[in-house]
Amino acid sequence: MKDTVNVKNIGLRGVIVADTKVSFIDGEKGVLVYRGYRIEDLAQHSTFPEVAYLLLHGVLPGEKELADFNKAMQGESELPEFIYESFKHYPTDANPMDVLQAGVPLLAMTEPELSDDSREANVRKAVRLIARLPRLVAAWHRIRQGLEPLPADDSLSHSANFLWQLHGTKPSEEMAGILDTCLVLHADHTFNASTFSSRQVVSTRAHIYSGVTAGIGALSGSLHGGANAQVMKMLHLVEEENDIAGWVKKQLESGERIMGMGHAVYKTTDPRAAFLKKMVLRLGKETGQKKFVDLSRQIEEASLAEFAKRGKTQIKPNVDYYSALVYHFMGIPQDLMTPIFAISRIAGWAAHIIEEKTGEAQVKPALYRPKAEYIGHYCGLTGCRFEPLEKRNN
Ligand SMILES: CC(C)(COP(=O)(O)OP(=O)(O)OC[C@H]1O[C@@H](n2cnc3c(N)ncnc32)[C@H](O)[C@@H]1OP(=O)(O)O)[C@@H](O)C(=O)NCCC(=O)NCCS
Repeated sequence: MKDTVNVKNIGLRGVIVADTKVSFIDGEKGVLVYRGYRIEDLAQHSTFPEVAYLLLHGVLPGEKELADFNKAMQGESELPEFIYESFKHYPTDANPMDVLQAGVPLLAMTEPELSDDSREANVRKAVRLIARLPRLVAAWHRIRQGLEPLPADDSLSHSANFLWQLHGTKPSEEMAGILDTCLVLHADHTFNASTFSSRQVVSTRAHIYSGVTAGIGALSGSLHGGANAQVMKMLHLVEEENDIAGWVKKQLESGERIMGMGHAVYKTTDPRAAFLKKMVLRLGKETGQKKFVDLSRQIEEASLAEFAKRGKTQIKPNVDYYSALVYHFMGIPQDLMTPIFAISRIAGWAAHIIEEKTGEAQVKPALYRPKAEYIGHYCGLTGCRFEPLEKRNN
């Protein structure tokens, strides 16, 4: 009998393609855990370097392990000089996600352990990537403004250093802490599109840099990590709008999506979104930008009402709906919002890539190779008659 695509499985929804020990989501109950730990606990009590260690090693670090991990990241964060030089030749209006995606293979070119595919070597490469992705983003932001990239300040935390290298001013402890929490919240999310892309690429035994490059490409799309920038765009678009409910209705009636709403796995509140929503309310007050908070609340209320009318009560604001405003309140430009997602998700991509390569959670590592049902032109096994170019009547 002919195989067909089960409509429930479109987009591989619900299809189990691998085992993993890295993270778990219960989409019905709104639960997310990294290596067994609830995201709420990690966001409240942990830091991004600690979470990155947890994802890579499977256990929380002790004091010495964490100090060594932070030191290793600091020691590995500088970019090769030729990357700064090449960035200076890029068009200044290049999208930062494209620049980031282009930057990762440049890092591979100077990777001393590129051909060592052992777990230990890949963890060291992961540490270099986690340390350097923020540098790529910050360096590009400086260079595109005609400014020189700034050297790292080793007295600062990972998150504070990024903000310093981006803006050229030392961030307050509060701002660095907020960014760090955002990095914790975005660090991993099971088999999302970018993580699956990374794992699929390295299942061919391609190196970790190729896997990460694929992940960045997948993340850039507006249905995935690119949604946060789209949310900000939407907020600016409706800034002068008097009838928000009418605008939302029109969007949905014309088949458009409300960015930052809905999720492929969560059928209830995304636990990360709940956390970020509180940050939005706090930062909106602190920065005196209540206007955007009000707009965001109005869009949310109108969207939920419209979705309910259409029997789609499962569609709720997701992580990107609120992270956009958090980043905006921190002075992050719209086109750097998705790169910030990437400098966090690199920890999850690396953990998954290593798991894929080592087979430590799989029955047996295997090359991903699904199949598709061919529904195209067919003339039987002999094939269609080939007409030479000069005889074709197109
Ligand atoms: C993320 C997303 C792709 C998940 O979608 P999904 O629930 O797995 O499945 P679908 O894309 O098939 O959507 C199911 C239905 O809900 C609708 N829907 C889902 N999200 C919607 C949104 N944000 N706005 C309007 N309609 C939406 C779809 O149009 C579809 O309707 P239909 O059945 O009448 O065709 C989707 O919610 C979306 O596009 N959201 C906006 C982009 C976004 O915020 N992405 C970041 C995700 S973290």
